Amino acid sequence: MGLHDVLAWAPAESVAARLVRQVDFGRLPAHIAVIMDGNGRWAARRRLPRVEGHRAGIDSVRDSVEVCARLGIDVLTLYAFSVENWKRPPAEVRGLMGLLKRYLRLELATLMENDIRLQVIGSEEELAPDVRGELDAAQERTGGNTGMVFNIALNYGGRAEIVAAARRALRAGVDPDELDEARFAGLLYTAGQPDPDLLIRTSGEMRISNFLLWQIAYSEIWVTDTYWPDFRARHLLEAVLAYQKRDRRYGGIEQEPAIVGR
Ligand code: IPE
Ligand code: IPE
Ligand code: MG
Repeated sequence: MGLHDVLAWAPAESVAARLVRQVDFGRLPAHIAVIMDGNGRWAARRRLPRVEGHRAGIDSVRDSVEVCARLGIDVLTLYAFSVENWKRPPAEVRGLMGLLKRYLRLELATLMENDIRLQVIGSEEELAPDVRGELDAAQERTGGNTGMVFNIALNYGGRAEIVAAARRALRAGVDPDELDEARFAGLLYTAGQPDPDLLIRTSGEMRISNFLLWQIAYSEIWVTDTYWPDFRARHLLEAVLAYQKRDRRYGGIEQEPAIVGR
């Protein structure tokens, strides 16, 4: 995966093709997390029902997943449905779940072709049996893939994840003196994965909305005004390029040896 895989996919002369040539492949974010926001506003602007915004957002998911896999990103996490999103009208929730099922069915072949492993993060228990069935099938089919991990955050809440991890530690009888950050991180949905280096939020809102609270401690944040259904590979590449200009200090000072070695 790398420059040529993106160039083979992006239309020649496209903005994405131009931007990807500027990427430093030695300094890619290992993990990119995205708060996909603005579907409703995108639809409202077109006088369409909100669900049409969600439908249009599927093309953005497809584009982002493929460009990240081709770039050589290790982990991509997309926030698809929060624990708080159950507050929305039942028809919208039904619409979202229906679109999720359709996406999984239609995209399985692409996930396989790109060697992508799908993993749900969030509590699957509260999801309807048909949605769970589709998710389990997709996770099983892609389970042996060794390329990019695609975390789909569904019925996900950062606080709920932390509480669940604490419960797991207590149930397992972990000695309090032995519970450190690394051990705790291993009890989260993202166990074994690098923390997000880059957190993207679309549609201009400057908030975290209960996403990956533990994991984003030192993520670089990039917010765009673009609504999610308008988000394409070129926007993702813009975010990666902006990320590569950042000076990550982790509380230290510039050029600290410990940072250079990361
Ligand atoms: C993001 O778009 C999709 C989900 C949260 C499922 P929204 O539906 O939140 O769109 P806005 O923010 O209302 O425009
Ligand atoms: C965050 O978007 C959740 C997802 C993208 C799934 P929301 O639209 O639900 O967040 P708020 O309500 O604007 O904070
Ligand atoms: Mg929103």
